[in-house]
Amino acid sequence: MARLLDFNEKSVEVAAEFLSRGGLVAFPTETVYGLGGSAYNRSTVEQIYRIKNRPSQNPLISHFAEISDVWCDVIPTSNAQKLAEAFWPGPMTLVLNKRSDSKISDLACASLPTAAVRVPSNNVAQQLIKHCGMPIVAPSANKSTGLSATTAEMVMHHFIDDDLLVIDGGQCLVGIESTIIDARCEEYVTVLRHGVITNNDISDVCVIRQSENKQKPIAPGMMYKHYSPKNHRVLINSEICHSDDAYLDFGHKHNVHSKYYMNLSESGDLHEAASNLFTMLYELDKTDCNNIVIAPIPNAGVGVAINDKLIRASGFVGVQ
Ligand code: TXA
Ligand code: MG
Repeated sequence: MARLLDFNEKSVEVAAEFLSRGGLVAFPTETVYGLGGSAYNRSTVEQIYRIKNRPSQNPLISHFAEISDVWCDVIPTSNAQKLAEAFWPGPMTLVLNKRSDSKISDLACASLPTAAVRVPSNNVAQQLIKHCGMPIVAPSANKSTGLSATTAEMVMHHFIDDDLLVIDGGQCLVGIESTIIDARCEEYVTVLRHGVITNNDISDVCVIRQSENKQKPIAPGMMYKHYSPKNHRVLINSEICHSDDAYLDFGHKHNVHSKYYMNLSESGDLHEAASNLFTMLYELDKTDCNNIVIAPIPNAGVGVAINDKLIRASGFVGVQ
């Protein structure tokens, strides 16, 4: 059974102790909740893949408390150093070559020569990693293909029957997963997954080159079906809906007469919309609506990441 803990000094100590003995702890980051385990412990990593139903070819992100700790496990390039300085701690993940003496489990990296690394800014995540004294691998705390969890309630919903601790640190502020950047090359970087750190932000710091092979993205997770509510079909980019549908609006209210209505951001703020996205999809999925219909979201800035998630949620991209 999953056990829910309020966030305080004592619970962080208990959770860090549980992690160092090989246990699993779900914890908030500024993006989404993570399902954490020791990056050094192969059997813990195995357990993460198992309870998430995650294919073992889909590697995990290692989370560190300090930038200087990251460079003990991966080899920085000058682009990586510039990005780290600009955006860490924060919602960015870098893919870099692993050091030969890195203790991060090969299984966490799906036996690739690279590792995905991140320094989260969330206070709970920071305290947990510091107390535990080693990097924590953490995929988003949801069953594979399901909605990412942005509240402790959503984590419990996915993992109620599993053996883990869940630290309740409230709702995640950013609300969507970190931007993933391949920063192995000295000349340019490639964006593997969009997030709230946008191409515009990144290009202030280094040169971006588009991935050459659109069919086979280098972040293996991007090939799979994702972000799907459990009970309802998601229809996107629509200004109309049937009266028995739920409508998830954006900006000024569209003239819809839906059974259930929520608005990602009445003021049309894309950051607010990202922060509400998974929580509102989860709430609407609890209703007895027919479909969840979503308003058009501008495909610029943070909207690029939101639309990418919605396209996947609606089933247009991704194998099971
Ligand atoms: O915001 C986030 O990134 C959250 C929080 C918990 O940190 N984590 C998260 O993890 O979204 P997950 O496992 O749901 O997504 C990780 C993505 C996957 O698409 C995976 O394929 C990619 O990172 N990835 C991991 N290691 C990689 C590597 N070595 N090379 C390329 N992609 C990698
Ligand atoms: Mg995920």
